Amino acid sequence: MARTKSWRRRAGGVELEPLRVAVIGAGYWGPNLIRNFEACPVADLRTVCDLDIERARRVLGRHTTVAATTSLDEVLADDEIEAVAVATPARTHLEIVLAALDAGKHVLVEKPLAASVAEGRKLVEAAAARDLVLMCDHTYCFTPAVARIRELVHAGELGEIQWVDSVRINLGLVQTDVDVLWDLAPHDLSILEFILPEGREPLAVAAHGADPIGAGRSCVGYLTLPLRHGAIAHVHVNWLSPTKIRTTVIGGSKRTLVWDDLNPTQRISIYDRGVDLTEANVTGELRREALVSYRMGDMLAPALHEGEALQQVVTEFATAVREGRAPLTDGQAGLRVLRILEAASESLGWGGTMVPLGAWK
Ligand SMILES: NC(=O)c1ccc[n+]([C@@H]2O[C@H](COP(=O)([O-])OP(=O)(O)OC[C@H]3O[C@@H](n4cnc5c(N)ncnc54)[C@H](O)[C@@H]3O)[C@@H](O)[C@H]2O)c1
Repeated sequence: MARTKSWRRRAGGVELEPLRVAVIGAGYWGPNLIRNFEACPVADLRTVCDLDIERARRVLGRHTTVAATTSLDEVLADDEIEAVAVATPARTHLEIVLAALDAGKHVLVEKPLAASVAEGRKLVEAAAARDLVLMCDHTYCFTPAVARIRELVHAGELGEIQWVDSVRINLGLVQTDVDVLWDLAPHDLSILEFILPEGREPLAVAAHGADPIGAGRSCVGYLTLPLRHGAIAHVHVNWLSPTKIRTTVIGGSKRTLVWDDLNPTQRISIYDRGVDLTEANVTGELRREALVSYRMGDMLAPALHEGEALQQVVTEFATAVREGRAPLTDGQAGLRVLRILEAASESLGWGGTMVPLGAWK
């Protein structure tokens, strides 16, 4: 018998009925969703579904009232369950998410939204046609650091964004079904699309990859993304690096921001330093020297609260359903990331050719 959170809790000052949810998939990532739904005041975890019943039971532990099942059909036929969170491999998202939407359930689906743009579009259209919430778990967008970066960029604190350099490398699990771009770059791309203001979106993508260990797919990947107004973004993802680096640098016309996600005491540093070009009425060599000037101002490290991003994700999902609004990272956001990934694969196949992305929003 599933436990019932029959009480109401406050979320953002408003009383909300906890959302009755099931988690589908209890492999590597599913247990994180399960733990966070269990701790979420506006969610009521009823069922965990995995093809491997022992896995589902093990995650829940012996002292639980949450049901475990191997049957997705059983979950979807349960009228008490209002929503599902899908943490199964990307190749299964289309079938599972469509079935859930058909059964009238709201869906939180892990990144990437689906295995292709065509599949992702089907999910977005199905959710819209049924007036159901479809949220894609772009976890990093819910970290305090990324939330602050977005605020700073949108408030114009960095000035016009000129360049972004994102590095996500470590000794990673070499996946059997996807390359390093599809495995790790969704994080960087979802962050990019979340923080960039309208008008700075990527126009195209060129991808380069290497498979020096003979894994059968790229283990090292580089994406170059020209942005509007002459700006550029670069993403480096790598499963083969013995040292772990998670750093994003965002250069603006006023300030440059460095986000080092592995430095909990100073994740964000904002430098009032950069290079300016000044107008000068001189010619030749003298002109070049006169035009370039260096700003050497202060560095500021804003205080950030610490908090688990996934708790924000599940709370945003439940709250969006209850408030009948689109979540912060909706199906469209998932689709935008898929468009870049698919174009990147195309570029990789052509040896790194720049592939245009077309209309962004
Ligand atoms: N947000 C993040 O930071 C993050 C991190 C890691 C993985 N992920 C995403 O989470 C998803 C799952 O990845 P994972 O590494 O946990 O995979 P996994 O292979 O470890 O686990 C998947 C689980 O789903 C179960 N499953 C598969 N098909 C099912 C079905 N039809 N019904 C019920 N259960 C089924 C499997 O038995 C398995 O236990 C992927 O989309 C991945 O990209 C997200």
